Amino acid sequence: MTAATFADRLLRWQRQHGRHDLPWQNTRDAYRIWLAEIMLQQTQVASVIPYYQRFLAHFPELARLAAAPLEEVMPLWSGLGYYARVRNLHRCAQEIMSRHGGEFPRDPEAIARLPGIGRSTANAIAVFAFGIRAPILDGNVKRVLCRSHGVDGFPGTAAVEQRLWQLAEELLPARAADCSRYIQAQMDLGATLCTRGKPACADCPLNDICIARRDGRVNELPQPRPR
Ligand code: ADE
Repeated sequence: MTAATFADRLLRWQRQHGRHDLPWQNTRDAYRIWLAEIMLQQTQVASVIPYYQRFLAHFPELARLAAAPLEEVMPLWSGLGYYARVRNLHRCAQEIMSRHGGEFPRDPEAIARLPGIGRSTANAIAVFAFGIRAPILDGNVKRVLCRSHGVDGFPGTAAVEQRLWQLAEELLPARAADCSRYIQAQMDLGATLCTRGKPACADCPLNDICIARRDGRVNELPQPRPR
C-alpha cells in the first residue's frame, strides 16, 4: 500500500467515525494539549476526563500552575497514578516560565527536552498545538503499525522501535494541515477498533490492506516481550 492510501483511509475514517469532542480537542492552547497528553500517557480517556476538567478549573493557565507549590498540585492528581508525571508536570511548567518566557516552545526537539516529555508526546503537542508535520508512536499507534505492516518482534526493543519510527515517518500525510486529524485517527483506531483483545477488523478502514489480517496473525501482533 502507498503512504497516500494509508493516510487517506485514516483521514476519511476519522471524519466519520473518530472522536471529535474530547475536552482537549478543538483547542490550539499548548498548555491544555500538553496537560491532556501527560494525563493520557498511562491512563485511559474515560478516567482522564474528570481529572482533566478539575485540574484546569484550578489551574487555567500555565503561569498559575508554575507559581503554585507542589503540595497544591498533588491532590489534583491523586488517584490517577504514576505520580512522577505530576512532579515532572510541575517542573516543566516552571521551566517553561524560566527558560522559555512562559511560552511553550514550538520546536518538537525543544519540547522533548522538557521534563516528562518523550519524542512521541513532544510530537503530539507540536502537531495538535502548532500544526507541525510529525509522527507519533504511542502504544496504540505501535499496535496499528505492527498489524497493518506485519512488523515482527517485540516493539520494546530498540531495533523494532526504530523500524516503527521509520514507518511512522514514511506514512505521514504529505500536508502538515492533515497531520492532526491523521494522528488522532491512529489514536482513535487503536483505542476503538484495533484493540489488543478482540479487534473489530470487520469495521476497520485498513482491513483490505492489513498484512496481519491477510496472514491470519492479528492476534499474534504486536509480539509480546520474549521470555
Ligand atoms: N491518547 C493519547 N493522546 C490522546 C489524544 N489526544 N486523544 C485521545 N487519546 C489519546
